[in-house]
Amino acid sequence: MCGIFGIVTNQNIKIGKIALESIKRLEYRGYDSCGIVSQHNNSLFVKKDAGKIDEINEYLKLDEFPNGSKLALAHTRWATHGPPTKINSHPHLDCTDKIAVIHNGILENFLELKEELLSKGHIFKSETDTEIIPHLIEEYLKQNKNLKEAIVSAIKRCEGAYGLAICHADYPNTIIACRKESPLIIGIDKGKTSYCASDIPAFLPYTKYCYILEDDELAILNAGSVEFFDIDNSDLPKQKKVQEINWNIDAAEKGGYQHFMLKEIYEEPSALRRTMKISPDSIKDFAIPLLTADHIYITAAGTSFHASLAGKFIITKFLGKYIEAIECSEFKTQLNNSLEENSIIIALSQSGETIDLIEPIRWAKKYKPSIKILSITNIVGSSITRYSDKVLVTQAGPEIGVAATKTFVTQILTLALVALEIAKLKNKDSQEEIQKYYEALQSVPDIIENFLEKNADLIKYIVSDLEKNLNFFFLARGASIATAKEGGLKLKEVACRFIEGYSAAHAKHGPISLVRDGYPIIFIAPPDETYERLLGNVMEFKARGGKIISLVIESDEKITNLSDITIRIPQPRDKYHNLFSSITFIPALQLLAYFAALEHNLDPDKPLNLAKTVTVH
Ligand code: AGP
Repeated sequence: MCGIFGIVTNQNIKIGKIALESIKRLEYRGYDSCGIVSQHNNSLFVKKDAGKIDEINEYLKLDEFPNGSKLALAHTRWATHGPPTKINSHPHLDCTDKIAVIHNGILENFLELKEELLSKGHIFKSETDTEIIPHLIEEYLKQNKNLKEAIVSAIKRCEGAYGLAICHADYPNTIIACRKESPLIIGIDKGKTSYCASDIPAFLPYTKYCYILEDDELAILNAGSVEFFDIDNSDLPKQKKVQEINWNIDAAEKGGYQHFMLKEIYEEPSALRRTMKISPDSIKDFAIPLLTADHIYITAAGTSFHASLAGKFIITKFLGKYIEAIECSEFKTQLNNSLEENSIIIALSQSGETIDLIEPIRWAKKYKPSIKILSITNIVGSSITRYSDKVLVTQAGPEIGVAATKTFVTQILTLALVALEIAKLKNKDSQEEIQKYYEALQSVPDIIENFLEKNADLIKYIVSDLEKNLNFFFLARGASIATAKEGGLKLKEVACRFIEGYSAAHAKHGPISLVRDGYPIIFIAPPDETYERLLGNVMEFKARGGKIISLVIESDEKITNLSDITIRIPQPRDKYHNLFSSITFIPALQLLAYFAALEHNLDPDKPLNLAKTVTVH
């Protein structure tokens, strides 16, 4: 969840400035503390504290390094072991102040290792799990090992997850990086500068060439060159293929928007248009196994889980088979005794690194090797892809805002493309009918573009009105329950408001008791097969004095007539478009959450306690 960055160069460049800018681009991964270490004349220079990078930089001047320094590591932290304090911030050093380590992940056996090291006289300064690593390396260096050997010996003792970047005061041109279950990418500007980082945007302004480090691999970075090793065979260097990044840093910058979240909502039309172009052959490859599977599960966390709930509706319509959606953290508990052969698990993850998802997938593969994992992610080469039989990569582009927005719509779109491929393969609906669904899907980006152009002020007004109330909720039926739940999640995340998305029918069995005169209820009301029943629910809430705000299509009349305020989606009234309402209706709720965050003076890009990629259990 933390962000790590390393740079080693032989150029006369301002590495302090580069390190600072680079961890700022990783701040979405965790932002409760940060730190930088530079190396010069056989000494390490550390600056670190708790707080946001900009605040700390004001007084610590993180970018000011000793003249001539050519190597730096930088870290932005999401606290796991020990609260966000200066002492717990990374980098962590050994007893000699010669070895510096930055870490992303969690070491599970750190308590026993700490006891062992304490008994050998090591002195610990922090409450973190990370600090055992420099001390372990120190211990192995005492045994006449060189730095690489000492690091290999140390990490072989560590259980858990890690992305690590390590430097030593007496190794002036060397960063050693290694990983297990936490992402680490190596960037290379050949002959000049090498970088390592938890994510590509950190070094993208400086190079487009990178290597993706795999689990149990180690990299030795020198200025402009890198050597790779397997941890289990660390004497022999191994070859890896360099990859060229085909997106630009502009995609990972705010581009004139006040926040990434707003920019990314407005990027939804272009993200959808790109995702629409995923190769038809790979969609077909993904769809074919679903036709013959006996059991199909769809699993994910958070927003990706809500995309699963929406997407499974669309797939089921054409596949005609039940798909069970299970939150990934509950997957193993629920299926421990009942996962059968010839099952398929569809796994969704924006980051492809969510440990709550990776774990059950690894478990399922081990438990029933014949099971197929079909995954959808936005990140090429992410961990989930290694455990998957088929992978579809959404083309949302980098999503920096912690709250997922454009990746949500592209995930549903990808599942919708799979659904229409299934329709083609099954040959049950006429080709003409399927074509109409395709055309409706293709018009989705225009519908969203049109909506966003005209409705921001209305949503702002609704937000200021809703602020008069402590509580409200989103209600829906059918596929739109996923939209309602996602709307509620967005408000919790960015506006710190515990607002729920709920089934409109089910709300009669409890939440209706909250309704008083003027209590707001937001109904998600596309004119699909649930519309007439939802109308009944609207009346029930109106009869109790509820203030009805509804999300409807432009030509809607019935629910509009019962509503105090309507948000109107420019979507044609037909079953073809209705099938994709979970994509076209959500931008309204994402904008609502965004403006609610501003109303509360909160930074929507950095919700309290959250991190973009959750790699801890
Ligand atoms: C989304 O706004 C949240 N940040 C969170 O719920 C997220 O969707 C969840 O952690 C899953 O992440 P993933 O898609 O990267 O697996």
